[in-house]
Amino acid sequence: MQLALNSPLDMHLHLRDEAMLNIVAPLSAKSFAAAIIMPNLVPPITTIAALKAYKERIMIATKGEKFTPLMTLFFQDSYDYDFLKEAKEYISAIKLYPAGITTNSEGGVSGIDSESLKMTLDAMSELKIPLLIHGETNGFVMDREKEFVPVYEELAKNFPNLTIVMEHITTKDSVEALDRHKNLYATITLHHLLITLDDVAGGMLEPHLFCKPIAKRPEDREALLKVALEAHPKVMFGSDSAPHPQHAKESCGCAAGVFTAPIALPVLAELFAHHDKLDNLQAFVSDNAQRIYDFRPEKKEVILEDAPSTVPAIYDTVVPMYAGKEIGWSIKSVS
Ligand code: NCD
Ligand code: ZN
Ligand code: ZN
Repeated sequence: MQLALNSPLDMHLHLRDEAMLNIVAPLSAKSFAAAIIMPNLVPPITTIAALKAYKERIMIATKGEKFTPLMTLFFQDSYDYDFLKEAKEYISAIKLYPAGITTNSEGGVSGIDSESLKMTLDAMSELKIPLLIHGETNGFVMDREKEFVPVYEELAKNFPNLTIVMEHITTKDSVEALDRHKNLYATITLHHLLITLDDVAGGMLEPHLFCKPIAKRPEDREALLKVALEAHPKVMFGSDSAPHPQHAKESCGCAAGVFTAPIALPVLAELFAHHDKLDNLQAFVSDNAQRIYDFRPEKKEVILEDAPSTVPAIYDTVVPMYAGKEIGWSIKSVS
């Protein structure tokens, strides 16, 4: 069996910088036509100059591939209309992190409410710049995303012209919120469609599956699977591929992030084929995002086939999800 995908998009991707950028960026650029690039570097991307320089480094690291990095700024409540008007030309979205909630988010926002963010969110609404949010409170780890849903809803209600993307949703509650507000959208990762907390911590601790938000319960995964497999018009694929060096994962104080970029498309195809929903993968990995972001990627055709392949044990210093395991599908060609 084969499947042709037109211009697959990864709407949530960490490419890092320097040596790591050079290891991971080509792996995404090979099979994706474009990707939303997360700004949580150290220090985060908060200026147009830093953004342009980072984009330049990504272009160098992905030279020879047809790949568009869609850049984002790291949200600051000091961004005003004039700054954003100038920034708009260079960005596809702005990413908001609650302070300290995930990897490299120390410079994020503490206290997210409509009043304190009004100046920036009004400007983003007017300029049609999407707001992407890592939606977790600092409550009990399994409840953080659920507790954040009212924040999403308040923002969606108070800024009806702002496109808000709930990033890497992991719960049934988030899925249900999607249909309550016309301006709420979501990205869903590959790993949250596949695993639950059991896979992370139910047996021997599996550091390469540890990420934020942490994988949840079977009923949450079911809810995510349902909307992904039907390519619900408000969900998009965003891998949240988040590489960390092997020593930072296999250590005391394991860094959060699952590295899925090299396996994303074959494993998605395998999953959709398993549920007899291959016809919906095009919308989930590209068409929905094109509509939501009003973005037309360059044409890039990826042919996937149900030929088994073995996932490499490591890419330089980074261990991928399913390292050393056989997966049922592979990439046949890209043109
Ligand atoms: C991401 C990272 O490593 O940058 N980690 C993660 O567990 N998902 C940050 C993020 O997306 O929250
Ligand atoms: Zn996040
Ligand atoms: Zn992320």
